[in-house]
Amino acid sequence: MNILLTGGAGFIGSHTCISLSEAGHSVVIYDNFCNSSPSVIKQIEAVLEKPVSWVEGDIRNTALLKNTLQSHRIDGVIHFAGLKAVGESLQFPLSYYENNVNGTLSLLRGMLEAEVTNLVFSSSATVYGNPQYLPIDEFHPLAPTNPYGQTKLQIEQILWDMSTAYKDLKIIVLRYFNPAGAHDSGLLGENPAGIPNNLIPFMTQVASKKIIELNVFGDDYPTLDGTGVRDFLHVVDLAEGHLAALSYLSQMEGLEIFNLGTGKGYSVLQIIMAYEEACGNKIPYKIVSRRPGDVASCFASTSKANQVLGWSANRSLLDICKSSWNFEFQSNKIYRA
Ligand code: UD1
Repeated sequence: MNILLTGGAGFIGSHTCISLSEAGHSVVIYDNFCNSSPSVIKQIEAVLEKPVSWVEGDIRNTALLKNTLQSHRIDGVIHFAGLKAVGESLQFPLSYYENNVNGTLSLLRGMLEAEVTNLVFSSSATVYGNPQYLPIDEFHPLAPTNPYGQTKLQIEQILWDMSTAYKDLKIIVLRYFNPAGAHDSGLLGENPAGIPNNLIPFMTQVASKKIIELNVFGDDYPTLDGTGVRDFLHVVDLAEGHLAALSYLSQMEGLEIFNLGTGKGYSVLQIIMAYEEACGNKIPYKIVSRRPGDVASCFASTSKANQVLGWSANRSLLDICKSSWNFEFQSNKIYRA
C-alpha cells in the first residue's frame, strides 16, 4: 500500500516508517519538523539504504495535504502528528487543541476530498485517566486528566462520528502505553528537546552523566517496592503493531480500538536496575515526593490486539534499555565527529 505518515519524522513515526518500508509498503512522510528534524529522514534512509519520500508541511494546511494524498496516490494514512507533552499542554492548551484537534479535522477534510478511506490514529493510554481496574482493557472508562489527553479523546470522538457518517471509512485507533527504546542500528531513537520529562530518556541522560541524578517520584505507592509501575513497550514492537493494524484494515468495517502495550508492569526501581545492567554504569538516584498527576500502576490488557491483530510485543525491558543506551552512545559518537 501507499501510506502517508503524518508526523513520520517523530519518534514513533520514524520507527514505523522503517517497519512498513521493510514489509514492502511505499511510505511518504509528512512532517512540519516542529518536534523533529530533517536529519531524521537521513537516518531513516541510512537504515533502509534507499531514499524516502517526504513533504515538509503542517497538518492544518488542508490544501497541501490533499495535494500530497492525490499526487502520491495514497491508500491509507497513519496519523502520528501532534503535540504530546502533558506538562506543556497544561501551560498552552490552545496550541494543543489547535494542533491536535484542528490538525485532525484538516486531515479528515483532505482525506474526504482525496477519497482516501483508510486511517490509523495514534492515541494514548492517557485517555483512560486514573485506572479504575488493572489491566486496563479497551472498555475501561475514559477520563483524561490533562489537555493533551483531552485532545486525544476528542479526536477519538470525532473519528467515531466520521465512521458513522461515512460507511466506506475504515479507522483503527491505537492506544499506546509507554513507548520507549530505539532502533537496533542506533541511528534512530527518542531525542526530546531540552530536559526530558519521561523516565527512560531522563535515565539515559543520567547514565551518560549529562544529568547528575534521577529523581524517583515517590516510593510510597501501593506497589511491590513503592515506586510507580508502568507498561513500557519497545518502539520497534509498537511500529510492528502499526503494520498489523494496516493489514487488519482490509478485513474490517467502521472503527476499531486496540491497546498496544506489553501487558506487564515494571516499577521505576526495576527499570533502574535493568538500565544499569544495559549500560554497565550505576544510575545515581534519590527518592523525592510524588509528581502531581501520577498514578501508582498502569498496564494494558493486550488480549484484543493479540487475538484480533495477531500482534504481541516480543522485546523485553532489557532490550528497551540496551537499545536506548546504544542510541545514546551512537548519537554522542556522531555529535563528537
Ligand atoms: C506519560 C504521560 C503519557 C505519555 C507517556 C509517554 C502523564 C500523565 N502521562 O506517562 O500520556 O504517553 O508519558 O511515555 O504524564 N518517573 C520518575 N522520575 C522521572 C520521570 C518519571 O520517577 O524523572 C516515574 C513517574 O513518576 C512514573 C514513571 O516514572 O511512575 C513513568 O513516568 P513517565 O515516563 O513520565 O510516563 P507516564 O507518566 O506513565
